[in-house]
Amino acid sequence: MTLPPAQRAAELREQLERASYEYYVLDRPSLADRDYDRLFRELQEIEAAHPELRTPDSPTMRVGTAPQSALPKHTHLVPMLSLGNAFDDQELQEWEEKLRRAGGDDVLTRGGGYSAELKIDGAAVSLTYRDGVLAIGATRGSGTIGEDVTPNLRTLRDIPLRLHGTGHPPLIEIRGEVYYPFDRFERMNEERARAGEPLFANPRNAAAGALRQLDSAITAQRPLHFYGYSAVTPEGDVATLPFRTQWDLLETLKSWGIPVAPHHARCATLAEVHAWAHDVENRVRGQLNFAIDGGVVKVNSLAMQDELGVIGGREPRWAMARKFAPDIAETKLLDIRVNVGRTGTLNPYAVLEPVEIGGTTVKLATLHNEELIRAKDLRIGDTVQVKRAGEVIPQIIAPVPDKRTGAEVPWSMPDKCPVCGTPVVRDAEEVAVICPNVACPGRRLEALVHFASRGAMDIRGLSYARIQQVVDADLVSDAGDIYSLTADQLTPLERLAEKSAEQLIAAIGESKSRPLSRLLNALGIHHVGTTAAELLARHFGTLDALQHATAEQVLEVRGIGETIASAVVAWFQDPAARKLLGKLRAAGVNTTEPRAAEADGALKGQTFVITGTIPSVSRQHLTGWLEGAGGRVTSSVSKATSLVLAGDDAGGKLEKAKQLGVRVIELTGATLAGRTIDREMLLQMIQETP
Ligand code: IVH
Repeated sequence: MTLPPAQRAAELREQLERASYEYYVLDRPSLADRDYDRLFRELQEIEAAHPELRTPDSPTMRVGTAPQSALPKHTHLVPMLSLGNAFDDQELQEWEEKLRRAGGDDVLTRGGGYSAELKIDGAAVSLTYRDGVLAIGATRGSGTIGEDVTPNLRTLRDIPLRLHGTGHPPLIEIRGEVYYPFDRFERMNEERARAGEPLFANPRNAAAGALRQLDSAITAQRPLHFYGYSAVTPEGDVATLPFRTQWDLLETLKSWGIPVAPHHARCATLAEVHAWAHDVENRVRGQLNFAIDGGVVKVNSLAMQDELGVIGGREPRWAMARKFAPDIAETKLLDIRVNVGRTGTLNPYAVLEPVEIGGTTVKLATLHNEELIRAKDLRIGDTVQVKRAGEVIPQIIAPVPDKRTGAEVPWSMPDKCPVCGTPVVRDAEEVAVICPNVACPGRRLEALVHFASRGAMDIRGLSYARIQQVVDADLVSDAGDIYSLTADQLTPLERLAEKSAEQLIAAIGESKSRPLSRLLNALGIHHVGTTAAELLARHFGTLDALQHATAEQVLEVRGIGETIASAVVAWFQDPAARKLLGKLRAAGVNTTEPRAAEADGALKGQTFVITGTIPSVSRQHLTGWLEGAGGRVTSSVSKATSLVLAGDDAGGKLEKAKQLGVRVIELTGATLAGRTIDREMLLQMIQETP
């Protein structure tokens, strides 16, 4: 039985959002990617055919809203407060004494003890839910007025577009922190360093930057996540909230599908809070994949919070940040050395006099590139300030020039590869210095390590040390050789039992079935990381199609720019790369991936570009209509473009279309003369344009 479109759309929305929640929040996927894509596409089609059925909580709203020219302002229902700081147990004790003075000696018993939570070091946002549906998402801004970044926040898969369960107040603002996970942050900065782009100082800046994009398609590509920690209703009246304590609040948020940070605790006394804070600082902190800059201690009862009130309209009396010891230390820069990355980039790193920072001993720090060393004027022998950036990879903040003795030596990049001795080259656009020798053992080793790594072909047991062994034993010289290894060849290697050798061979065999996107990432093509690899694989579907694509065709992939496109094309032209691909194909490595679903329809096979401002209809609607009829919408005009839709103030793209003789439909204020475009009209115009 087929349901009426409205009902089917509602059903699909529900199914898709549940699947998203299970995937992104619970980490327990229930629906195969293909099935998700299929249902998603069906919903897109229904909404394209019946734009009136679009709702703000539709999963299709998570992608592809038109870019904005500026971020609108949003006034928070109730101001977003900041917190007072306590830097040690003593200062926290003093805070408790003030609490007693303000609330009486029984303040804690009446207040139900404390709630202790991680203080997430991200970008604070407020999510307004109206009747359970996400209506507005805004940054903290001044605390009173923030910026409306709703389309961007909708792209975060762990923010529910509709709250789960029941009992939500008709209007509620849920507050929390958007953060950028460490592992992804490190990876992004490494990629930026390699591409010669400026680095983000910390995950917080990266999160805030991604959140304030004018084009939500860019935010959608960033791995942003959210943790909720507070909620307010209009006028800040706690009686209208469906929870009585901070602890219940967190539990209720969870039941509504809002992610809540781990490691929060109920503490009856301040002594328990101290113990909790020490444990977080010394143990928990090192295990987290997101940045925290302390803990937050809150009086548990919301009624008690209300009674204690706010100091100077800015900081609540009932909550306090418990900051951790600074994770910066001074030490000596003993040497600057260089290793060779998989793409041949020479990466300088610092050798430090061992120093303890935040509980671990630091001996090495990344230096990213030569430019950075020059900009900071780092000299060997300098006393330097070292910071554990994102808690994991130590970085040098700056030298301490006052402590110079005159014996410090400036450093410069070697002009020969430290591994193979080949003279280095400098990439014209990049800050990078590169060993051009594709057979450089340093490059090769790193390339193999990357190939087998988790985000790539994920060959369990093929560790760094193991790869070094098989390379040293002359068993492997490129990734293709991995697939012809046998257990008999491996067992003679040191510390490799027969059983482990067999397991390793099995793991290698298993990796043959990874999807094309993993393989593309594994190949180590310059500028092609996980994201680009996925975009390419889903677009082209097979390695063959990508290998034979022109730079223009690669550029048609949404999200792929000139740099990546030319790197991809150049890579496939390299004879060494072709030889490698030959070996991989012969070994039976999978080279396909299901393509992004393509609708059948009147516009199948046609490619469109929308440019300028088209009156009476959003770009998102136009795109939906075109895609719903099987067309593809891309951002740049080429000979392959079937048609350009040009609105008012169309610029370079319209020029280019005219030059190339691409068909154009002008949808300007003048040509439309007050008419409103709808789907039928658009499709008819396309059909009728010669
Ligand atoms: S409560 C009314 N809880 O820290 C109290 N804030 O330095 C205000 N933050 O602006 C917020 N984790 O952005 C609270 N578990 C947490 C938090 C948290 C991070 C941020 C928040 C606030 C800033 C103050």
